Amino acid sequence: QLESSMHTELEKLLDTTTGEVSRKDFEGFKNLFHRFLQVKGPSVEWIKIQRPPEDSIQPFDKIAARGLPDNVADSLNKLVVVKLNGGLGTSMGCKGPKSLISVRNENTFLDLTVQQIEHLNKTYNTDVPLVLMNSFNTDEDTKKILQKYTHHRVKIHTFNQSRYPRINKESLLPVSTNLSMNGQNTEGWYPPGHGDIYASFYNSGLLDQLIVQGKEYIFVSNIDNLGATVDLHILHHLVSQPNGKRCEFIMEVTDKTRADVKGGTLIQYDGKLRLLEIAQVPKAHVDEFKSVSKFKIFNTNNLWISLAAIKRLQEQKAMDLEIIVNPKTLDGGQNVVQLETAVGAAIKCFDNALGINVPRSRFLPVKTTSDLLLVMSNLYSLEAGSLTMSPKREFPTTPHVKLGSSFTKVQEYVNRFESIPDMLELDHLTVSGDVTFGKNVSLKGTVIIIANHGDRIDIPAGSMLENKIVSGNLRI
Ligand code: UTP
Repeated sequence: QLESSMHTELEKLLDTTTGEVSRKDFEGFKNLFHRFLQVKGPSVEWIKIQRPPEDSIQPFDKIAARGLPDNVADSLNKLVVVKLNGGLGTSMGCKGPKSLISVRNENTFLDLTVQQIEHLNKTYNTDVPLVLMNSFNTDEDTKKILQKYTHHRVKIHTFNQSRYPRINKESLLPVSTNLSMNGQNTEGWYPPGHGDIYASFYNSGLLDQLIVQGKEYIFVSNIDNLGATVDLHILHHLVSQPNGKRCEFIMEVTDKTRADVKGGTLIQYDGKLRLLEIAQVPKAHVDEFKSVSKFKIFNTNNLWISLAAIKRLQEQKAMDLEIIVNPKTLDGGQNVVQLETAVGAAIKCFDNALGINVPRSRFLPVKTTSDLLLVMSNLYSLEAGSLTMSPKREFPTTPHVKLGSSFTKVQEYVNRFESIPDMLELDHLTVSGDVTFGKNVSLKGTVIIIANHGDRIDIPAGSMLENKIVSGNLRI
């Protein structure tokens, strides 16, 4: 009954919103909705969860120790770099695609990605292309910017992920129809998560095009993960597996700390490696899931996947990714849900899938301005689009930085620093309230700066704060 009402609603939408939703999106959504209605109970039975077998998650060092062959270029020529570029910069107070936010020396996430790949292509005389998966939210702005890379040695392709209708939480029917009547239909649609990559890539025709060109693997990552560079050892490991044991999917995982408790982890389930996300965990086991001792690693979302295998699984309709039900409240107060999937959830569908436990440096996401402060500082140096931790930092870990709400928006954050402080010896920084930093400030140890409501604290140029609490007029 519900499915037939959905069908009618979607047909109406197709008629009224020409150009906004395509027949393929419509079929994809119907399929997802059908699966959503079938789901009864949790997607995993807790007692069936097993620890992944010893050799299914290999330490990165072991893989790197094998060294690199002379024909690295041959392997690189089989590779395509894909960046997930469907997301907006809203959480950092920016309009437009997140990939266009400046992160270091005026370079955006996208600039850094292009520089990295260009450097590879020049060094090894190869032709590694960049593919951006855009969403209807990011496509137009991204394409305008792409013109600036025309003369760079990187071929850039884009394809669009699907556009699906948000559904009312109670009726489970699309909200777009009524919204589009008053001309405000933007809230009626959403990009259905990065798991959409498989269907969209396949449907775009680009996947086939790349296979014809001799490409065999994609390296997929979040565009906001500055640590997600092409690693030649992982690539070599992937391409050098003997026939019959061809590894079709590698997930880079890294050791969990108490700050990463929410990330998805790898488990063994029904004889296969599987990604377990917090949303799939029954309430009674959430603490166990978060514990660092039982589930020691989490997914960085850096993935290496066989193009031929994606094609096969799409054609067999065998990519049944767990559905994430994401509840939202629209501006008008209407409660909706959006049905999403995650790219890493597909690990269970591929043959000989493997986890590689990589150093933390390959997971450097910029989600907040606190993350931005770290990557802009002298803790890192920038070379050919890649950030590396300064050798002058004596501890291997990065400082813990917590900037308050006056710093949330990138523009406000930028205005509050005349220059980025020296942070080489910093362990912990908490800043709250109306605080500004003059030029050449140096922060060491644990520094806490709190301006109470109505107060303002200006840290003078040239100051050195070491293990200090600065609060109102009180300085300790
Ligand atoms: P998010 O920033 O939304 O997710 O997207 P997250 O909080 O890191 O958590 P994970 O990765 O889902 O575990 C991560 C990347 O995926 C892209 C974003 O642009 C970003 O690069 N993305 C997300 C899409 O391309 N499409 C989507 O529908 C959602």
